[in-house]
Amino acid sequence: MASLKMTISCFFFLQILLFSLSSFAQTNAQELEVGFYDNTCPKAELIVKQTVFNTIKKTPTLGAPLLRMFFHDCFVRGCEGSVLLELKNKQDEKNAIPNLTLRGFDIIDNVKAALEKECPGIVSCSDVLALVSRDAMVALNGPSWEVETGRRDGVVTNINEARANLPSPFDNITSLITQFQAKGLDKKDLVVLSGGHTIGNGHCPQITNRLYNFTGKGDSDPNLDTEYAVKLRKKCKPTDTTTALEMDPGSFKTFDESYFNLVSQRRGLFQSDAALLDDQETKSYVLKHMNSDEYSTFFKDFGVSMVKMGRIGVLTGRVGEVRKNCRMVN
Ligand code: HEM
Repeated sequence: MASLKMTISCFFFLQILLFSLSSFAQTNAQELEVGFYDNTCPKAELIVKQTVFNTIKKTPTLGAPLLRMFFHDCFVRGCEGSVLLELKNKQDEKNAIPNLTLRGFDIIDNVKAALEKECPGIVSCSDVLALVSRDAMVALNGPSWEVETGRRDGVVTNINEARANLPSPFDNITSLITQFQAKGLDKKDLVVLSGGHTIGNGHCPQITNRLYNFTGKGDSDPNLDTEYAVKLRKKCKPTDTTTALEMDPGSFKTFDESYFNLVSQRRGLFQSDAALLDDQETKSYVLKHMNSDEYSTFFKDFGVSMVKMGRIGVLTGRVGEVRKNCRMVN
């Protein structure tokens, strides 16, 4: 009899636990959706698009950092806008070394201000980042994709988390695969999203070792094309800390497939670009997309991987907040 009572109370306890867990999941892990603001702020996506298009028309070089900003947001604490937060003591993500070269924060402010005017307190800063990165690519004749929205903004930013979670240009393929896997992204996402390096710039310190002292013996990286290394050495003297380098020389303002052509010729700028030739799967993607006249597969793949990246660690439902000012918590 006692054991029957015990079984019944265990059963009820389990029922209550399952019910609480499922309602917790409903309030906290609501799905993102395309058109989340259709009813609450119908003009939201149009406002973002207009602001981004006007900006890129005037300053096409801003497209690249706006794409990179979304990547750097998503890899640290998830896509919840923590990359935008500023702390008085400067111990925020923005001040971590990889983020010191991010640009375009004022564009995010402009977009957010326009949205606040139209529908105050509705559109999150993390969704602004997701929409802006897509629209910036479209403005550069790149791919388009449907952006899922409904993210809410986080309230924490920490410099050490940015240091720990952002991949380095010196990383090898094993490390890159592991870091992407930790965020739920696979090898295909890694090689496809690395294709984002078809636009924008790097800087000399990220390749000085490849040019001058690869193994500590004054040598250069054997995985870097020798003719290209000569060109790069002319631009980057060993102590140069400031010179910018086009990652896709000649077409760094146009989103195209030439990145894969460069990587296949051992002309990828960073070790992390060259590393894509060190794994069978990533290598075969690179080779398949070099010299291709037809951009459709890469463009489509890029959109799919961006949507996947945009789901990392999102806050939805009642978790987090919708910031009024993207630089500070409410
Ligand atoms: C795979 C690991 C990655 C590494 C190690 C890496 C590293 C870097 C580094 C070191 C720079 C140069 C920044 C500067 O000096 O200003 C850079 C630039 C850039 N990265 Fe990546 N990146 C990676 C993946 C990605 C992804 C996934 C995206 C977006 C989908 C992306 C988009 C960009 C863009 C657009 C730029 C140019 C930024 C500008 O012109 O200001 N990167 N990346």
